[in-house]
Amino acid sequence: MSGAPAPLLDVRDLSKSFGGVRALDRVSLTVDRGEVVGVIGPNGAGKTTLFNVLCGLAPNGGQIVFKGEDVTGLASHQICHRGIARTFQLTRPFVELSILDNVAAAVLFGQRHDGAMSLREARDRAGAILTEVKLDRRPASLAGDLLFAERRRLELARAVATEPELLLLDEVMAGLTVAEAQDMVEILEKLRRERQLTLLDIEHVMKVVMAICDRIVVLNYGEKLCEGRPAEVAAHQAVIDAYLGTERAGG
Ligand SMILES: Nc1ncnc2c1ncn2[C@@H]1O[C@H](COP(=O)(O)OP(=O)(O)OP(=O)(O)O)[C@@H](O)[C@H]1O
Ligand SMILES: [Mg+2]
Repeated sequence: MSGAPAPLLDVRDLSKSFGGVRALDRVSLTVDRGEVVGVIGPNGAGKTTLFNVLCGLAPNGGQIVFKGEDVTGLASHQICHRGIARTFQLTRPFVELSILDNVAAAVLFGQRHDGAMSLREARDRAGAILTEVKLDRRPASLAGDLLFAERRRLELARAVATEPELLLLDEVMAGLTVAEAQDMVEILEKLRRERQLTLLDIEHVMKVVMAICDRIVVLNYGEKLCEGRPAEVAAHQAVIDAYLGTERAGG
């Protein structure tokens, strides 16, 4: 049979409720290998819940197919070993460990086979990853002593350390200065190129979304409002009302 190759990630009718709150309401989306897909939507739209469910939180309905395999409901370490990693909106490194060992721990966690790697080798790999995220100047510093923007890059390093094919980014730009955000865009671009990463990127900064995404999915009250290329989505009146409108009203 001919036709387009199967998507890397195929999310079908995914639903997740918390009590009476429908955080995700039959959301379907696909991500092709090599794509950068943005996820936008107002606060509480269900963006982080989507990532939580993709990483092992049990949904109430729907299916997650990754590389052709149904991974719905697998445990988080199993999802990690299949090749999906995420960053957290609120970063939570081991504050009493060095930057290097935070990443080394993630390297070991990402190992597909038990006992295959020494701590020394994990630290070597961690050192190389710190260079990729421009955090290699003081690898022995405690993670708890990092500045805000550095903590973000450590969070990115820890996700990359598990050697994902699909990387889920939860607002990695939020709170960064313009210069820091520019730095982050460059780091992501390079990681993407050199590691052949596919990205699903939750992002509030519209300028960044427009610049780096091939495609954008808009969530609102747990539902997919629309999706398309950045210019199409920006022109979509419903998006302007639901998202850009509130942003303007809020800011
Ligand atoms: N663990 C939970 N328990 C109860 N309700 C939850 C839980 N996680 C999320 N929710 C609710 O689900 C809805 C979606 O939340 P979610 O965090 O996914 O939104 P979001 O789009 O990531 O928002 P933000 O832009 O503020 O990060 C919200 O109403 C939220 O209060
Ligand atoms: Mg969120």
